[in-house]
Amino acid sequence: MVPIKRPRRLRATPALRRLVAETSLEPRHLVLPMFVAEGISEPRPITSMPGVVQHTPDSLRAAAVEAVAAGVGGLMIFGVPETRDATGTGATDPDGILNVGLRLLRDELGDDTVLMADTCLDEFTDHGHCGVLAADGSVDNDATLERYVDMALVQAGCGAHLLGPSGMMDGQVAAIRTGLDAAGLERTGILAYSAKYASAFYGPFREAVGSTLRGDRKTYQQDPANRRESLHEVDLDLAEGADMVMVKPAMAYLDVLREVADRSPVPVAAYQVSGEYAMITAAAQNGWIDRDRAVLESLTGIRRAGADVVLTYWATEVAGWVR
Ligand code: PBG
Repeated sequence: MVPIKRPRRLRATPALRRLVAETSLEPRHLVLPMFVAEGISEPRPITSMPGVVQHTPDSLRAAAVEAVAAGVGGLMIFGVPETRDATGTGATDPDGILNVGLRLLRDELGDDTVLMADTCLDEFTDHGHCGVLAADGSVDNDATLERYVDMALVQAGCGAHLLGPSGMMDGQVAAIRTGLDAAGLERTGILAYSAKYASAFYGPFREAVGSTLRGDRKTYQQDPANRRESLHEVDLDLAEGADMVMVKPAMAYLDVLREVADRSPVPVAAYQVSGEYAMITAAAQNGWIDRDRAVLESLTGIRRAGADVVLTYWATEVAGWVR
């Protein structure tokens, strides 16, 4: 049999493949998540995420400058406080480490990059939950919203361009939007973690922020079994004023990402989380996969599934490759 149709023709040379590539990966598509820790004098490696560190303010500044020079689209900042309490006081303290880091980066970088802040309490609470607890130990949705609004106001005041509420409380986008607007901060945007699943792939992140979680997050993060629920969450966040929506994690939820991208009128982000980073890194360290190819393939897949923006711990490095 002699085939009439030969799709291999367009795969024959690098130039042909480049000409017909459907998906692109550019530095501007990538956002670098960064950790800034209180009370350390040297950057501290994160064992389960080789190559990622908890930064000191100085090393945060240097790494951010490097990322921006490489052309990354933005930075998402997480704080690692020295002490934690029941309500996450450090999150709303203007001198809390996350807020210090935000101010420092905005001073250094101005509007040269998009500065984003994690608007969530789990890094700051001693029980490790994303909100405050009710008397019965459950996560109190509406009391948590008040904390998020206070946190948002401080973060916006510190110069964050986009706030990333990642706690999956009901009504969090509306509460933050209303709070910002009432304070005259209508220009600060919201990158809503709309479809965030209760995932095992956040494991290394707990080490990254030094948090020990009592229990699990299944009463507020989504069940991995659900697809339609994500579309509902996205619709709610859009109605509440989200400027962008996010799906998280990325690789185990590419179907959800595709559906969200198909119907979202606003830009869609996806978060390639700590466990995704750790899996590829560990396999590569064992010599079991080609690290650089696996990284590029994973990010291309996330873009192909519909992400306009990808949060990845490889952002700076990959930006250098694809420039
Ligand atoms: C919550 C938050 C988490 C991550 C980002 N924001 C942890 C969680 O929900 O358990 C995880 C990111 C990652 O795993 O890379 N503040």
